[in-house]
Amino acid sequence: MGFYDHHILPRLLNAAMSAKPISYQRRKVVPRAQGRVLEIGFGAGHNLPYYDTAKVERIWALEPAAEMRERSAERRAASTIPLEFIDLPSEKIPLDADCADTVLVTYTLCTIPDVMAALGEMRRIMKPSGQMIFCEHGEAPDESVKRWQRRITPAWKVIGGGCHVGRAIPKLIGDAGFKVLDLETMYLPGTPRFAGFNYWGSASKA
Ligand SMILES: C[S@@+](CC[C@H](N)C(=O)[O-])C[C@H]1O[C@@H](n2cnc3c(N)ncnc32)[C@H](O)[C@@H]1O
Repeated sequence: MGFYDHHILPRLLNAAMSAKPISYQRRKVVPRAQGRVLEIGFGAGHNLPYYDTAKVERIWALEPAAEMRERSAERRAASTIPLEFIDLPSEKIPLDADCADTVLVTYTLCTIPDVMAALGEMRRIMKPSGQMIFCEHGEAPDESVKRWQRRITPAWKVIGGGCHVGRAIPKLIGDAGFKVLDLETMYLPGTPRFAGFNYWGSASKA
């Protein structure tokens, strides 16, 4: 990891994750979290203000990048929910099986290098009665946009900290053994179409 990854990328991610259309998306999904929550790719804690404090008992905030964890300090200070960091990647989660009521993942499945291993871990630690809540960008439905996604991915991965713009999010979730319960999609306004096709919803363990 060089200067760009340590100093420039965390600033860019923090700014991108504060965008208004993304905040609207957070408002749609984060309040659905309840009980013991594992948040994957906690980043700078942008989801924290949207949790329903009456429903959430605690948060395990998994975030491998120290620079991102540091950037969450202000939001953590403003939150009353007990929070514990897991400073590791999600491909191997140091939690017991069946311990989380909710797994929340927003704008992170695009970045995880071994996304199938990570989804397998999310499913392992989720209670049978639990839910996985996701809000992610990924593969666009239009062939012309998909072509752009394929062309731009090699360069975008370098600029965007490993972000793959064209991952088929619902398929990956299903392939990992989850059952998608509800799913909505749209192009986010004010975002380039190749990076702006959003999937959000929930999945069960079965
Ligand atoms: C685009 S940011 C999104 C942050 C946050 N989820 C949000 O919605 O604002 C992606 C995050 O995934 C984290 N990340 C990268 N590799 C990861 C991995 N293997 N497992 C979990 N998180 C990872 C990055 O450090 C970064 O904070």
